[in-house]
Amino acid sequence: MKSFKANQAAAGLLLSLLAQASLQAPLNASKWSYVGSDGEENWPKKYPFCGGVFQSPIDFHNDVLQYDSTLMPIDLVGYNVSLKEHFIISNNGHSVRMHLPSSMYIRNLPFRYTASQLHLHWGNRNKPMGSEHRISGRQFAAEVHIVHYNSDKYPDVATAMDKADGLAVLGIFIDIGNFNPSFEKIFCHFTAVKFKDQKVQVPGFNVQELLPTQLDEYFRYEGSLTTPPCFPSVLWTVFRNPVKVSQEQLLALQTALYCSQENDSAPLEMTDNYRHVQEFDERLVSVSFREGVVLSVVIASVLGVCIITGVTCWMLRKRKSLKKDDNKGVIYKPAADTEEDVSKV
Ligand SMILES: *[C@@H]1O[C@H](CO)[C@@H](O)[C@H](O)[C@H]1NC(C)=O
Ligand SMILES: *[C@@H]1O[C@H](CO)[C@@H](O)[C@H](O)[C@H]1NC(C)=O
Ligand SMILES: *[C@@H]1O[C@H](CO)[C@@H](O)[C@H](O)[C@H]1NC(C)=O
Repeated sequence: MKSFKANQAAAGLLLSLLAQASLQAPLNASKWSYVGSDGEENWPKKYPFCGGVFQSPIDFHNDVLQYDSTLMPIDLVGYNVSLKEHFIISNNGHSVRMHLPSSMYIRNLPFRYTASQLHLHWGNRNKPMGSEHRISGRQFAAEVHIVHYNSDKYPDVATAMDKADGLAVLGIFIDIGNFNPSFEKIFCHFTAVKFKDQKVQVPGFNVQELLPTQLDEYFRYEGSLTTPPCFPSVLWTVFRNPVKVSQEQLLALQTALYCSQENDSAPLEMTDNYRHVQEFDERLVSVSFREGVVLSVVIASVLGVCIITGVTCWMLRKRKSLKKDDNKGVIYKPAADTEEDVSKV
């Protein structure tokens, strides 16, 4: 935990230094994509943070995981939004996004983090793997991000997004399975937001239905926005258990949307809108669950002890049997002196 705080302080300093540079950048520089010359390799040219520290997403592999018994189940307030309220779903040219009311927030983090929007990342119909985070190298079909900002310290998400303690994002893996009626409440509106800058108003629903039932099993680390300007301002919570949507629903996500505007003569399909995993040197991910993490350490230890015990037993037995052979040698062969010398060496 101490190293996390030190990291955060360092990130904060860097952030304030670099923020000045990025604020001076002209607004018309805000052009990026997942393919071509504006693709992720070139993001750092216009957005220096993308080439900086604490970048997301990452791969959750055993070497970086550390069990933390203080991590409590995520406590969500106001997620059950009434039918009478409305969400706005929009296409921003990079993803499909649903704006969330400020009555939704996360209670049990160091600050109150109020909901701002959710959006998705996905692959394409031929390669249905588009999650941003990965577990032991495994990429899931898609990933939902529910973005919250620190409303104790900052008035809105725009002010918070470049502050070290500005954002908290919930990440949810999507896997292929049964039809998911909750996700359909978003997916059924895709035709209305096919093109960039289109919007549609939809009735409220319980957003918690989009989350896995087990809110107590998650990965926690300090990282960044996964899109430019890649500010290292995100306290990440990525749930261990995926939610499921059907093959048909996933196909709709992979094929219904475009990055380009309706009147664009060269339409660009919205596919593979995920960033690749980032370096994870000298950082640790806290995990709220023991099993599968500590277990692998235990198995490794037990295996180690078994091997050592096995080798020791084998060596002892070998010595004994050598001695027996010597004795036998003494019995049957009077000239066994040389053999006995060998066993003593
Ligand atoms: C932004 O626009 C200004 C003038 O409108 C232009 O001088 C500048 O070169 C542009 N910057 C980029 C990065 O395109
Ligand atoms: C969500 O709220 C509605 C009323 O607005 C209620 O009928 C429903 O039971 C609530 N769901 C949960 C899971 O609390
Ligand atoms: C397309 O429509 C947008 C507004 O919806 C407009 O700003 C833009 O100039 C149009 N582009 C072309 C190529 O007509």
